[in-house]
Amino acid sequence: MRWRLLSALALLSPVLAVPQVEADPAPEKAAEIPVAPVAPAASPASTHAPTVFNGQTVPPMRELKGATLDEDISKGYWFVEFFSPYCGHCIKQAPIYQTLYEFYYTSKPVPTSKEKEGADSLNTFTRFYDLKFAKLDCIAYGDACGAKKVQSFPTLALFKNGELVKSKVGTQSLKELSKWVEETLESIRPGSRPAGGVKLPKVGAKEVEGGAKPDGSEAKGKDPAAGAAAASKQNALASASVSSASPAKTSSATLESDYHPNPAGTSMPLTAEKFQKLVTTTREPWFIKFYAPWCHHCQAVAPNWSQMAREMKGKLNVGEVNCDIEKRLCKDAGVRGYPTMHFFRGGERVEYDGLRGVGDLIAFAETAVESGTGVVDVDAAAFSAMEEKEEVIFLYLYDHATTSEDFQALERLTLSLIGHAKLVKSKDAKLNERFKISTWPRLLVSRDGVPTYYTALAPKDTRDFRAVLSWMQKNWLPIVPELSSSNAREIMDGAYVVLGILSRDRADEFVVAKREIKNAALEWIDKQTKAFQLERQELRDAKQLRIEEAEDRNDQRALRAAKSIRINMDEIPRKEVRFAWVDGVFWERWIRTTFGITVKEGERVIINDEDNRRYWDQTITGNPIVPSRTSILETLKNVVASPPKLSPKSTVSSIEHFFFRIRQICSGHPYLALAMGLVVLVGGSIWGRSRMRRRNGGFFQLNEKEGLLGNVGGANGKVD
Ligand SMILES: *[C@@H]1O[C@H](CO)[C@@H](O)[C@H](O)[C@H]1NC(C)=O
Repeated sequence: MRWRLLSALALLSPVLAVPQVEADPAPEKAAEIPVAPVAPAASPASTHAPTVFNGQTVPPMRELKGATLDEDISKGYWFVEFFSPYCGHCIKQAPIYQTLYEFYYTSKPVPTSKEKEGADSLNTFTRFYDLKFAKLDCIAYGDACGAKKVQSFPTLALFKNGELVKSKVGTQSLKELSKWVEETLESIRPGSRPAGGVKLPKVGAKEVEGGAKPDGSEAKGKDPAAGAAAASKQNALASASVSSASPAKTSSATLESDYHPNPAGTSMPLTAEKFQKLVTTTREPWFIKFYAPWCHHCQAVAPNWSQMAREMKGKLNVGEVNCDIEKRLCKDAGVRGYPTMHFFRGGERVEYDGLRGVGDLIAFAETAVESGTGVVDVDAAAFSAMEEKEEVIFLYLYDHATTSEDFQALERLTLSLIGHAKLVKSKDAKLNERFKISTWPRLLVSRDGVPTYYTALAPKDTRDFRAVLSWMQKNWLPIVPELSSSNAREIMDGAYVVLGILSRDRADEFVVAKREIKNAALEWIDKQTKAFQLERQELRDAKQLRIEEAEDRNDQRALRAAKSIRINMDEIPRKEVRFAWVDGVFWERWIRTTFGITVKEGERVIINDEDNRRYWDQTITGNPIVPSRTSILETLKNVVASPPKLSPKSTVSSIEHFFFRIRQICSGHPYLALAMGLVVLVGGSIWGRSRMRRRNGGFFQLNEKEGLLGNVGGANGKVD
């Protein structure tokens, strides 16, 4: 045991040293890192000279520091831009924000004659409004940004006395920002702002006519040349990697006509500079692997990755980033282990967490390419044809009143659905009829033809990206999905799972078995729905009965009590039942060690209760459960009865084995590595104690801990 701890810690130390290299090459410093946050490099912008606007000197914008952020913004109003020096949108935002700051800083709250006023005048913006502009570099102070829940860059937030009032994500034009500032100022000092707004300068300009009327329709803040020039001035970090033309490209919504992806069929090594130029600041899709040369799992996946890149020749850009060299870029991309694979498009990304076989990678890449064409419009016939092939299809039904804003929100979802399910839209009356739709837009999912609807109380709910996506995530698995290492947790946790153990090798049995499990599932869902409705009706009837009785007896107290009965079906504990199947040949070893079953002896079904580490594999008559709807449903009824009418067996091993077997990454994150180190330590002490407890007759599942420890500490020789 001690050997394992020592070796694990020895292995962790080079990992811990990684982020410190630039600042402090002394290796003995490594041990201190987990305690103190990574020291940020000196902020280049803080040494910036003051600027001049409308003839008045403007001090450099305040650059906040992570450790003192809360204290700094604890008083008054603060606009804070959370940015990353590498993100294209931030580079675009920087000059706009700087101009906004200069403009307001030098503005006179109360219009006066032209005479110059000193900094001690009471008629200065900062004194009058107590509103300050600042920014925070989220690469240097990642923890602070995390604490403020900043998830994308740039995020602009308004704080009042340290409390977040409002935030906006993404590039904002000068006009939009000014509108926000004006609202804020008006709320600080009601009646102090000109009703028609203010005349804004051009982005990067050094002056603007004071007190003039605002311009009508000019597209402000969209001057790419001035923007880029000011960007490099204002944000010295970015200047190294951005060419003056690139930020302008960001706004184009479609791909350039000269888009020729991956001409050589290779995975292109990307430096931070190239990444910025080719990925961040373009609309082109990229599939990119982040790796470290020393990581075994990276070395193992390399040939498969290359082969996928060959297959994607002319179809999709494929790249790779060496995180040993490009540390900042990898951190910015949220890489927490090696290898990590992300698909990028237009400044957004989605992580690939599937299997690493050649076929899996190619399948993902192909759906990713397909998603680039946007949400396809289908008619009823095309939809039916799709249903033949796809088990899960999200359908967005719209009408003539659906706005471009609605469609934009819809398009945003495509990226997150890659590798999970299809999304199409339609305005075909036949589909409206089939799904009984009478208000638009409506979103639904059809799983094996069975619809489930997204509940939207107002039209804006259908544009709520987070709400829609989380609903989609709950519904994107087919009714009977195939269990794999990437969805195992999602399927197995918190439910009874009817798991068919099947073999693709016996094609006929395979088809029949899958169909039977699906029939059992549909039947079960149908029964559950009916039972739910019945139960609710019974509760309502019971309530009504009490009310009537109280009325007859004219008992006011009983009447009030009866009327106050609330029927909440959610309060009735119900354990969910899910259905899935697993490839019994591929996962032969796991199935044998977990359930003592081998698929060679025929297709089988088990009912698993992961939370309680137990399972059932026999019907009430003592025969094995087989993939037939009768066998499954009869047994299931007895299993979910409380208490169960069938006694379970306990799984000695667990899903963890299954789960960890493929999701193998090398840790490159110091905190994660530290956490893993702690797991080793804590796990070790539990293990030691449990051994004592076992001797006293206590119950402890040794194998499970061994599995976990084995993965981290290297008991299986899987050492990184
Ligand atoms: C690479 O692909 C092959 C064939 O698809 C597969 O057997 C192998 O496990 C893959 N390698 C890794 C590291 O996943």
